[in-house]
Amino acid sequence: MADSENGGFPQEPNYIGLNAPQRAEYAVEDLPVTGTIPADVAGTFFRAVPDPAFPPFVQDAGAILSADGMVSAIRFADGKVSTAIRYVGTARHRAEMAAGHALFGKYRNRYTDRPEAAGVDRTVANTTPVWHAGKLLLTKEDGRPYRVDPVTLETLGSYDFGGALRSETFTAHVRIDPVTGEMFAFGYEASGLATTTIAYVIIDRDGNLVREQWFDAPYCAMMHDFTITENYVLFPIYPTTADLARLQAGGDHWVHHQDLDSWLGVMPRYGDVADLRWFRGPKGVSCYHMMNAFEDAAGVIHFDQCLSDSNAFPFIRDASGIVIDQQDLNGRLARWSVDPTGMGEDIHETVIGPPGDFPVIPAANQGRPYDHGWMLTMNPERRGPPVFGGPVGAMFDLLLRLDFAGGPPQALALPMGSCFNEPVHVPSSTPGHQGWLVTMVDHQQGPDSFAHECWIIDGGNLPAGPVAKVTMPHRQRPQVHGWWVGGLA
Ligand SMILES: [Fe+2]
Repeated sequence: MADSENGGFPQEPNYIGLNAPQRAEYAVEDLPVTGTIPADVAGTFFRAVPDPAFPPFVQDAGAILSADGMVSAIRFADGKVSTAIRYVGTARHRAEMAAGHALFGKYRNRYTDRPEAAGVDRTVANTTPVWHAGKLLLTKEDGRPYRVDPVTLETLGSYDFGGALRSETFTAHVRIDPVTGEMFAFGYEASGLATTTIAYVIIDRDGNLVREQWFDAPYCAMMHDFTITENYVLFPIYPTTADLARLQAGGDHWVHHQDLDSWLGVMPRYGDVADLRWFRGPKGVSCYHMMNAFEDAAGVIHFDQCLSDSNAFPFIRDASGIVIDQQDLNGRLARWSVDPTGMGEDIHETVIGPPGDFPVIPAANQGRPYDHGWMLTMNPERRGPPVFGGPVGAMFDLLLRLDFAGGPPQALALPMGSCFNEPVHVPSSTPGHQGWLVTMVDHQQGPDSFAHECWIIDGGNLPAGPVAKVTMPHRQRPQVHGWWVGGLA
């Protein structure tokens, strides 16, 4: 296919197959449903869907990370389902729409922008829709969130918690305490590009930013996610690093280092950053998402993460001169255990699950001891290639329920040519029921042809398959993360 047949986008992994730009805003009511939607599934499934509004003017292997954010809402009410999707009206998107072409260059490198982009907020709000204290925030770790109206999906503007946020950045992976309702968050590169500054932020249950403390990381690292326990906050550092001189020379934001230590910063969550202790982890490892963390009866902290021996994104390994095939990354669900009151700085690692990503737990178990969780992985029995798509270039096709209390795992495998996006968990009002997983499933029908369904799956009975399927009206680009908001439709 010539570029002109693809909206002017280059024929490279960021823009082909499932990753082909769609750039369509729409709202469709009364979608076709097969099966029965459980009464518990009443609310809105928000999704962040990156989709570049304009073809790039620079070559950037990591461009998929800076595609313009779209907010998708799939609403369930009275057995009916509707969907809508709109671009997040970021300053960047508005500036490019006004210009009629791309103004911003490489992922997280303002030195590659066109002159007209100078001074414009570069963030794309494309990673996670966060719901807290009645507000919907579209987040991206390289900037501040954008607030979006949850009903109209209209963008209300950049959000700084009423002027309280000092950090220039805000994570896409907040953690909300199930008891206090507080939102714990952080920003890295908080005082500017490639700085070691980390801002640690607490927002109370009413949405007020009540505390922001800054400290320095051991080095400027990609910090995509973090965790809380009942009494602690944990900041993981993996050696994927940024360097200002490299950026000024037009280089890539991230380079991974196999020879650098990883670290886990641990502090009492209401303490002072002066009390932060660093525990030393293995060299060269990388992780994007943690499943959970908790303290056991002895006070030992356990930190459960989708870990691998190098960065899981092929374009970051390429930029780093690291030659490790995707299947040789030694991915695992790893539990790091540390004693926050002991003398040593050692981390003890136990493997508690297979390779994979997109871990999901019930919100009620956040930061607490837990006995099960779900995640996506690759079907080891698939007899052919996975669906091409997303930043790795391979989509997951097996949904797992892991039992940490000694029970057997459960699995739901998709047929060849189909793949999962990250599920959200919907709690059940039935005592003992483990709730529902709601997830977008992509079906490849030809080289550039896909159909999509939103599935509802019993979280305690994966092998039974979906209890309901909703047919989506249009092509869906791969989602990053989602958020379930019960009762909102
Ligand atoms: Fe993420």
